[in-house]
Amino acid sequence: MESNSQKDHSNGFQSPFKSFATSALHVGQEAEQWKSMAVVPPISLSTTFKQFGPGEHAGFEYSRSGNPTRNCLEKAVAAVDGAKYSLALASGLAATMTIAHMLKCGDNIICMNDVYGGTNRYFRRVASEMGLEVSFVDCTKFDCLKAAIKPNTKLVWVETPTNPTMKVIDIKGCADVVHAHNKDIIVVVDNTFMSAYFQRPLALGADICMYSATKYMNGHSDVVMGLVSMNRDDLYERLKFLQNAIGAVPSPFDCYLCNRGLKTLHLRMKQHFINAVAVAKFLEADPRVDKVVFPGLPSHPQYELMKRQCTGCPGMITFYIKGDLTNATAFLRNLKLFALAESLGGYESLAEHPAIMTHASVPEEEREVLGIGDTLIRLSIGIEDVEDIIVDLDQALKAARDCAI
Ligand SMILES: Cc1ncc(COP(=O)(O)O)c(C=O)c1O
Repeated sequence: MESNSQKDHSNGFQSPFKSFATSALHVGQEAEQWKSMAVVPPISLSTTFKQFGPGEHAGFEYSRSGNPTRNCLEKAVAAVDGAKYSLALASGLAATMTIAHMLKCGDNIICMNDVYGGTNRYFRRVASEMGLEVSFVDCTKFDCLKAAIKPNTKLVWVETPTNPTMKVIDIKGCADVVHAHNKDIIVVVDNTFMSAYFQRPLALGADICMYSATKYMNGHSDVVMGLVSMNRDDLYERLKFLQNAIGAVPSPFDCYLCNRGLKTLHLRMKQHFINAVAVAKFLEADPRVDKVVFPGLPSHPQYELMKRQCTGCPGMITFYIKGDLTNATAFLRNLKLFALAESLGGYESLAEHPAIMTHASVPEEEREVLGIGDTLIRLSIGIEDVEDIIVDLDQALKAARDCAI
């Protein structure tokens, strides 16, 4: 009999991107670039590089403006994104800030109204203070998006699926609406939840694909990093300039780790998908759960859209537990295999309470509108044996129910 971990859950989604694993393993990693012929890229810690004569160098001057280990990672990321270029930044938010610095005072940014709490906080409390005008809009509705575009709109920021309510945005539809209005408006997609393995925003019409590589792209919960990929030469030149001019760059050691993490991205994502489908089905059938939001199951209202624009679905599941904050807290306190912790996308299973943890920086009225309430729990399903994951969820749900008796 076919075991749970052998079943093909990718039915109906797009086919995997051609030669994805081969690109992740080999592009930018050529041994011939090193005198030693090292098969694994060395960690190049030197901050400065010797020049033959003033201004005459071997491609590197100073480690902020360019670093050999970072170059290897950037080439591999561009390849897995199907992009011409990629740049690595110090964190996902450093990537967001660097992108925002392409704009000037008085420019307007349209941001999806349901994004990572830190992105919301950056636009609302930092970028706005610096003279950028930010409008939060429901980009799942093209009419709302169209109506929000102003003469000074320069950038549209979407995240799909959204964090933590898992709304799915039609990337091609959005890019078409925006670019039909003005082809120069930059459409950015935060692809953190999907990773390069499941979604290619650039192929769907976006101008920039951005990641918190802290999540699936590195995948081992031991690096904080941001990545941006693009095809347009002008965007690359500007962002490459800002990477150096602002200086929010990652360390060579982190670049080495992320480059290594990328080598197993395809294997990890396939297993996250298999495990998440099994967990979502378990939760959906459980009377102690009010509602499950998982875009990889037909019960999700945008399942058809997911299948159209993605090659699969990551391990992110949101669910509403029956009861109130007491039950949600008891559930989270009683988990044994899952760690109660922020972040997501690592090999290990994590659980968190968005209203109190990751999304506390989103104003309460907005959280209410978005449905980020006391009973909402976000799971990042890891790649442990799925039977063990389910046993842990089951016993924590029991503890949550018993606490109310
Ligand atoms: C979807 C998403 N975008 C961006 C970020 C910010 O990335 P970082 O924490 O690497 O700065 C996060 C972090 O949780 C995230 O979940």
